Amino acid sequence: TLPPQFRSALKIPQQLRPSRRTSDTDYYEIVQSEAMATIIPGLRTPIWGYNGTFPGPTIVQNPGRTVVVSHRNGLPVPTVVHLHGGTTPHDSDGYPTDFILPDAKYGTFPEMPAMAGMPTGTDPDAGITRQTRDYIYPEQPHAGTLWYHDHRMDFTGASVYRGLAGFHITHDADERSLGLPSGARDVPLMIADRAFASDGSFLYPALDPAMHSVPGVEKSSMKGVMGDVILVNGAPWPVMKVDTARYRFRILNASNARTYQLALQDSSRRSVGFTQIGSDHGLLAAPLPQDTIQIAGAERYDVVIDFNRYKVGDQITMVNLLGSGSTAVVMRFVVARATSDSSRVPSKLSTIDAISPTPAMTRRTMKFHRGADSWTINGRVFDPTYSEADVPAGSTELWTIVSDFHHPFHIHNATMHVISRDGRAPGPYDHGWKDTVFVSQGERVQLAIRFSTFKGRYVFHCHNLEHEDMGMMANFRIT
Ligand code: C2O
Ligand code: CU
Repeated sequence: TLPPQFRSALKIPQQLRPSRRTSDTDYYEIVQSEAMATIIPGLRTPIWGYNGTFPGPTIVQNPGRTVVVSHRNGLPVPTVVHLHGGTTPHDSDGYPTDFILPDAKYGTFPEMPAMAGMPTGTDPDAGITRQTRDYIYPEQPHAGTLWYHDHRMDFTGASVYRGLAGFHITHDADERSLGLPSGARDVPLMIADRAFASDGSFLYPALDPAMHSVPGVEKSSMKGVMGDVILVNGAPWPVMKVDTARYRFRILNASNARTYQLALQDSSRRSVGFTQIGSDHGLLAAPLPQDTIQIAGAERYDVVIDFNRYKVGDQITMVNLLGSGSTAVVMRFVVARATSDSSRVPSKLSTIDAISPTPAMTRRTMKFHRGADSWTINGRVFDPTYSEADVPAGSTELWTIVSDFHHPFHIHNATMHVISRDGRAPGPYDHGWKDTVFVSQGERVQLAIRFSTFKGRYVFHCHNLEHEDMGMMANFRIT
């Protein structure tokens, strides 16, 4: 039986406080640990959490500040932390084999030989010891909604499902001057579906539930793992009390495989729409009215909802038009208090220098296809030793993603504009700077990808986490 809808209060993940500050850097500490969470009223769910919570604590990166996060692995398996959407030096990017090792009492893991020649466990001066690693995040180029999550090779899906995901929000001075809703009215929403056993534990069809050696999921889940309970910030179909005011919501789809088409309905089930103000990497040039928001795994949409139009007692429900039954509903807002509101949504939000294709740009095609018991890119499953593309630092290339199934294409350490879909103009959800782009079955999507100036080895992959774990990932090198 499913838990009741609209009974749990929406929780806001705690903002992490720095353990130390210098003139230009904020230092944070996170322990990855097993914990018990109350997700379904009356039941206990064993989770893996950053500081024992799901979602993990939110890190806020302010203008001009470098952030250093020291992660300690208190879990029984190797872990890797990736800042999704980050512009990050390669040794802090969370390459899938840059492990933070578990306590020695948990033994060795078959993928550990892949560490040979890597600094893990060897360099205390760089902040790397067997069970801890410092991740260094320089000031980010855009004010936006990033997130961090586990990225261990072959086991990302299982690790994230257990709870290893949190927000990392970046601000800049331009954004602050706009007068957008802020403080308690700037709310991150992490949407993730889960399935539960009757004792409250997560149900994930891993071939090796200990996540020790055998990667992957049961064949019937090869297309991706979906649950019948929709969690927002770790609570099932929660309800949030709001004022008669504008709110900014940073919507993240942290689901392993589910894509949503979000819509808002008032008490008479009329669709009331969103004002989109941001995409993966920050603010759009101008606010964009949207009836619905299609959001694939790992995408972010920043929206403003104006509750000024309602009166106390009104209810607005966020629904999922791609769901059915229990997955057709996401959460509910209840207008609880009349207040005044001085926030604004200005008609100009940011400046976006659109990238247009030129003949000089390097063109590449990446085919995302199913293999026999795997998912492949250009016919290969992930091989840490093979580079699919060597790209010059700071360059822009045109990549065409070709797909046999629907795949959210994600690339590290780069930012993208959608140029075309099947030769036609980009779609309604393609505005702004993106790091994850949904590619539908049979579609050809052309992207302009601007690479960062940090050099080294990075990955691109499908963000359906089961596809990623079953091979749909490749290296590229920034040279
Ligand atoms: Cu959100 Cu390479 O991942
Ligand atoms: Cu995929």
